Formats: sequence, structure tokens, C-alpha cells
Amino acid sequence: MHLPVSFAKLLTIVASAVIVAPAAAQMPAGGDARQLVALPEPMRTHTIANMRDHLLALQEIDEALAKGDFTAASRIAEERIGMSSLKSHGAAHIASFLPQPMQEIGTRMHRAASRFAVEAQNAGVTNDLRPALLAKSAVIRECVACHAAYRYH
Ligand code: HEC
Repeated sequence: MHLPVSFAKLLTIVASAVIVAPAAAQMPAGGDARQLVALPEPMRTHTIANMRDHLLALQEIDEALAKGDFTAASRIAEERIGMSSLKSHGAAHIASFLPQPMQEIGTRMHRAASRFAVEAQNAGVTNDLRPALLAKSAVIRECVACHAAYRYH
């Protein structure tokens, strides 16, 4: 009677190992599944300083929206994150070091920020913040998408 019971236990152990192993195998050591992107210095330092300014810009945009200063919210988005920011970011040069899908997320983010800039102007006319907030969330969605997938060396 003992043998079938321990055999059943053994089966359970083997079965759970088979189920758990493939999931664990996809996770590299340290549990960080983001793709490493090699960005040479000083471009890496320049880019992450830019990132910190993006975060500051988002904070300043919220403050401007809360004060009803839609022109400022629009200008901050366009100049610091939107299509107009590309030149000052040296984006074309840096982009050539990034994987294609990462470049595309970056482009989507700049476009979304320029769309937000328009919605912020509209909010000044309609006095309805909701379309602007939706447009801003579309910007942040691209920040999140890139951070979830990539990191720098
Ligand atoms: C196309 C990709 C991409 C987009 C879009 C992006 N980031 Fe980043 N960001 C990165 C990467 C890569 C890092 C470095 C992460 C690492 O190495 O762990 C980073 C780092 C940062 C950091 C940390 C900076 C530091 O000093 O270490 C902040 C803050 C940040 N991003 C904010 C933002 C914000 C806000 C947005 C959107 C408005 C944004 N990022 C959009 C790729 C992106």
C-alpha cells in the first residue's frame, strides 16, 4: 500500500517541476527581463538627464493645468517632450543606437506629447480638461512601455 502513495507524490513533484521550470527559464538572473541597450557615454548620461526633465515637465504640466494655465501646459509639452524637442535632444543621432521597436516607442511618445499640446489649447476654449488628460495619459503610456521593455548598459 505504501508504494502507490509515494509514487503519486513523486508524480506530483515531477508534474510541478515541469510546469514551473519553463516560466523560470525565461527570467534571467536577478529577475530583470528588460532588454539591455548599449548606449555609449556621453549619450547615456545625456539621455537619462533628458528623462529626468521629462518627469519634471509632466509635473509642471499638471501644475499648469491645475492653475488653468493651458497655454503654459501646451508649451511645456511641445517644447520639452513633443516633436519640437527632438532637435534639442539630439534624437536623430542617439536613435541610430537604439533597437527599431524602441525608436518607435520614442516617436510615439513625441507625437503623443504634441497631440496633448493641442488638447491643452482646446481645453482653454472648451473649459473641459478631460480630452487633455486622456491625451496626457497617452504620453505616459509610452514612458511606461519603454521602461518595461528596455534598460541601458
Ligand atoms: C524609448 C524609450 C523610453 C521612453 C519613451 C521613455 N524612457 Fe525614460 N528611460 C528609458 C531607459 C532605457 C531608461 C534607463 C533605465 C535603466 O537603465 O534602468 C530610462 C530612465 C528614466 C528615468 C531615470 C533617470 C535616471 O536618472 O536614472 C526617468 C526619471 C525617466 N526615464 C522618465 C521618463 C518619462 C517621464 C518618460 C515619458 C515622458 C520617459 N522616461 C520615456 C527609456 C525611455
